[in-house]
Amino acid sequence: MKVVVLHGSPRKGNTYLATSLFLDELRKCGGVDVVEFFLQRAMPEFCTGCQLCLGNPNEKCPHARYVTPILDAILKADALIFTTPHFGACSMSGIMKNLLDHLDFLTMNVSPRKEIFRKKAFVISTGAGSTAAIKPIKSYLKNWGINRVYTCGIRMFTNKWSAMPVAKQRKFERMLCKAAQHFYAVPKRHPYLSTVFMYYMSKFILKKFVGVGNYPYEYWNKNGYFTKCPF
Ligand SMILES: Cc1cc2nc3c(=O)[nH]c(=O)nc-3n(C[C@H](O)[C@H](O)[C@H](O)COP(=O)(O)O)c2cc1C
Repeated sequence: MKVVVLHGSPRKGNTYLATSLFLDELRKCGGVDVVEFFLQRAMPEFCTGCQLCLGNPNEKCPHARYVTPILDAILKADALIFTTPHFGACSMSGIMKNLLDHLDFLTMNVSPRKEIFRKKAFVISTGAGSTAAIKPIKSYLKNWGINRVYTCGIRMFTNKWSAMPVAKQRKFERMLCKAAQHFYAVPKRHPYLSTVFMYYMSKFILKKFVGVGNYPYEYWNKNGYFTKCPF
């Protein structure tokens, strides 16, 4: 199984440790090949909001030299892992959000990739509001058409894993091991109902309101999405 990990923090702290535990267990399942991107280095520019990627092939992005290698790795992978600490009120890290902004052209009504529909993803977050930090990432991934998004929020109240009571550490370690085993074994499922809904909505909007000559319409047309559902 080819796995791509997208690290939403440069700090090798709680989230990194939780991710390492998850990856160790995943590797034990066998045949796991991991490629890791530390996004602070791999995606060092902020999205400028120019929208070139929404109206043109994504190579027009001024940061294509960073986006393309990440996108290529994502498309080749069987499974994706997104990691972020919980920051502020219900937020993911800015570093993770910046990646998702740069990849927003993958959304269903622009240029969703066929390869994405067969993939599974896992989101890991640590911190008191980790569940809330995970939620928007899951929404993004569902908009891309990812087959299934699994999550693990480590609800912890210290900035250091080892400062937690040992029993709590063990509990989280067991949780991550179990989640990794499940993630490894789980087969492709039916697409989400929201994916099916978004496909038909996008098809309608692109035909009725966007139309010939505009990039999203042309992308869909070239890939045969108007005549055949891509998932
Ligand atoms: C900028 C920033 C904002 C944070 N905001 C919160 C917060 O609002 N509530 C909270 O309980 N913890 C907050 N934390 C703590 C982290 O969520 C928590 O320590 C997390 O496990 C850190 O993950 P890391 O070790 O991978 O960096 C914040 C930490 C940082 C750096």
